[in-house]
Amino acid sequence: MIQVACSRLMEKILKMSDNRTPIPTARARECAFLVGVEFLSEKSLLPLEDSLAELAMLAETAGLDVVGQLTQRLKAPNPKTFIGSGKVEELLVLAEETQADIIIFDDELSPRHQRELERILGNTMRVIDRTALILDIFALHAHTREGALQVELAQYEYRLPRLTRAWTHLARQAGGGGGRAGGVGGVGLRGPGETQLEVDRRAIRRRIERLRADLEKVRSHRQRYRSKRQKARLPVVALVGYTNAGKSTLLNLLANADVYVADQLFATLDPTTRRVELPGGHWALCTDTVGFIQKLPTHLVAAFQATLEEIADADLLLHVIDISHPNVMAYTEAVFKTLEEIGAGHVPVLSVLNKIDLLDDPLQAQQIAAQFPNSVAISALHGIGIQALIDAMEAHLYERYLLVEVHLPYSEGGLIAMFHELGQVEQVTHDRQGVLIRGRLPGRLMARYTPYVKG
Ligand code: GTP
Repeated sequence: MIQVACSRLMEKILKMSDNRTPIPTARARECAFLVGVEFLSEKSLLPLEDSLAELAMLAETAGLDVVGQLTQRLKAPNPKTFIGSGKVEELLVLAEETQADIIIFDDELSPRHQRELERILGNTMRVIDRTALILDIFALHAHTREGALQVELAQYEYRLPRLTRAWTHLARQAGGGGGRAGGVGGVGLRGPGETQLEVDRRAIRRRIERLRADLEKVRSHRQRYRSKRQKARLPVVALVGYTNAGKSTLLNLLANADVYVADQLFATLDPTTRRVELPGGHWALCTDTVGFIQKLPTHLVAAFQATLEEIADADLLLHVIDISHPNVMAYTEAVFKTLEEIGAGHVPVLSVLNKIDLLDDPLQAQQIAAQFPNSVAISALHGIGIQALIDAMEAHLYERYLLVEVHLPYSEGGLIAMFHELGQVEQVTHDRQGVLIRGRLPGRLMARYTPYVKG
């Protein structure tokens, strides 16, 4: 078995190995108590303890102190309270003992679960779920106007069915203006003042409509910029990967740039694009995108239109993987699943096995690399293996010409012209529907022609 370095998450798992031991902390910040459930009928991606350790990191990133956790193994969720009634009693005692302000469930709660749990807990503690927590972190980290609008919209859509009374949980701690997203529109888990939280459903629907219209404007502006970029026809490389894998660190190194790097989850929310010079005088545009995480609802990822477009339209994906992490294979699976869900399953992938400096034995890198075809092992932090990575990117984007036969409708005049301009045309036949072209195309352009490839 591959030995991997003990990560921060593993240390947390060890610290929290007793599922009911409160973790002593100072009471300067709000205190969160975590609840995790393992369903016997479903195979989850991560073991329960690891998923909870990840939730603890998310809570810390949101500025909360984790004071304890409780777990349960169940066949199915209790229709009223998600966990069993006996566990709810236990939760009440432990949460009071640890003076928790917020209870965070690792799975998405239905509005009914949430209401019922809050009622039983005496409405003194907030009950939220992983999705709400992630939305709160997104609110903190959205720096562009589009990002802030997207987060605010996603927060409203999440909260609308849950709006039975004022919600204050994380907002109490943020003091009504913690996150930039909250600052823009004033409503989110973080950011809104209490009065804003009391608006009725109709007002929220109106606000949602307004946000959609504003987003549309911002997006059409961005689209114009994108089409200018596409005309320049520089190949686009999107960095994707599990949160905290090292994407921003790698982009900084490749582009000699200064993208924000932090040992935090979801440090980067808005796509950041930089020009990167490849050997042979070629250039590529490299884009850092939002990190993925298990149990991230697809509709939430889908809210991040800018990120999705960057990924699905890219010529190549650099899948940055933290190979020092014990759950590397599960994380990889989560990333591929998300890529499929967002319609980017067709884009070629180069696996970048990052953080090799954290491995005890360099041979481990080779062993792990053998499990990832088409991969390069690097350390983005220490600049190890970067030349091999750049060479592999160049080979993907510029050197490989692939033989294809495509049937392009006349309406796709741009693609027909591009094949003649950038490809090597061997044979052209016209019919009533369009043009049949046989020839070779640079690998980087293949994704755009895939829908028209003749079976
Ligand atoms: P998100 O924005 O959360 O998606 O994270 P990211 O994938 O952009 O990761 P980021 O570049 O912010 O790095 C996360 C942490 O990993 C930071 O503390 C980096 O310093 C660290 N890191 C990145 N690459 C390496 C590496 O090669 N070795 C080591 N030891 N640490 C690294």
